[in-house]
Amino acid sequence: MPTIRIHSSGGAYNVQCASGGLAQAGAGVARLGETTGIYVLSSPRVWEHWGGQLLRALGKGKRKRVPVRAMLFDDSEAAKDLATIEQITRQLVLAGADRKATIVALGGGVVGDVVGFAAASYLRGVRLVHVPTTLVAQVDSSIGGKTGVNLPEGKNLVGAFYPPKLVIADPKVLLTLPHREYRSGLYEVVKYGIIADPQLFAFLERHMLALLRRDAKALEWVTTRCVRIKADVVARDEREGGLRHILNFGHTLGHALEAATRYRRFLHGEAIAWGMLAATLFGLATGRLREGEAMRMMRLVGSVGPVPSLAGIRAAQLRPILAGDKKARGGRVLWVLPRRLGKVEWGIDLPWTLVSRTFAELPSLAATAQT
Ligand SMILES: NC(=O)c1ccc[n+]([C@@H]2O[C@H](COP(=O)([O-])OP(=O)(O)OC[C@H]3O[C@@H](n4cnc5c(N)ncnc54)[C@H](O)[C@@H]3O)[C@@H](O)[C@H]2O)c1
Ligand SMILES: [Zn+2]
Repeated sequence: MPTIRIHSSGGAYNVQCASGGLAQAGAGVARLGETTGIYVLSSPRVWEHWGGQLLRALGKGKRKRVPVRAMLFDDSEAAKDLATIEQITRQLVLAGADRKATIVALGGGVVGDVVGFAAASYLRGVRLVHVPTTLVAQVDSSIGGKTGVNLPEGKNLVGAFYPPKLVIADPKVLLTLPHREYRSGLYEVVKYGIIADPQLFAFLERHMLALLRRDAKALEWVTTRCVRIKADVVARDEREGGLRHILNFGHTLGHALEAATRYRRFLHGEAIAWGMLAATLFGLATGRLREGEAMRMMRLVGSVGPVPSLAGIRAAQLRPILAGDKKARGGRVLWVLPRRLGKVEWGIDLPWTLVSRTFAELPSLAATAQT
């Protein structure tokens, strides 16, 4: 089974990226050592599709009789909050979960972030296993140890670094994901190709159709590659001192677009698609990037499919949001721009005139690149 070993300050752990991996979850969890109980935390929607299969798999791997319990909670972004952490941890107390309990997070990024934070804080930390069920969760949120919840004042403001002991990323579970959610995750995959891996980029150019069909073999290859990249970046910069900024490619403008439309118009990956297109044009305009490569990047982003339009959003409206971004420094927006396929630079300040002009040209240039 394709397995990647990840090293973090909280210890090393394996990420299994294999079709059929879910069915072997029991053996994987058993290998982590003795436990007094396995608590699967998930959402009703994810549970309906994959809960039964995971329960059967966990039942098979037990060496001796260990209770396996499921607890479900709302995984909407609106419920990613401290009240849900309280609800989950109180349920764990009532169920008798002790320090030797194993918590399994079955779901997308919301489930992973919420359950990860609950596992980090419950009894000051219990064993955590991620079973990511969205593409975003498989290639991004389950790797790197960031967990947390939102406050009314902003997203992900309370949390902890808490790496899991095992990640089981089975491409099969992506089959039930709504198509728009799935495509949104593919933009993050494209991001990895641009920031770090020309071979991945070329694979995506050749096999986008197979990926859009969710072909298990193509997905296995791609997720393994993305996990390696994220693991490598995070291992070299666990707490976001420098290199980890490259993961933010496309996210500067993307976050601003999400905020400007109150998180209603774009899925995260779709906003990042616009952000990557803009960053590519900035790279070209500042002489960092050759035109042929800029064109390939724009075409690859476009090949994932349509994204909601930018209609009605003005650059001036984005300016204060960009300046207030967590990653801005004293009001200066620091951009991540491509130099060539597989290589980006971070911390770049751009004149506002270039940003606003490029933003105005973005829809027509993106459309032209596809023809
Ligand atoms: N910790 C990190 O490093 C990190 C990184 C990226 C994103 N995030 C967080 O992740 C969250 C977004 O996660 P996401 O994009 O995975 O979306 P999500 O968790 O919101 O899931 C999207 C929808 O798909 C459903 N779903 C999940 N898996 C399914 C499946 N296999 N079949 C059918 N439906 C399924 C969910 O119930 C939900 O309705 C955000 O809160 C974001 O802040 C965290
Ligand atoms: Zn992202």
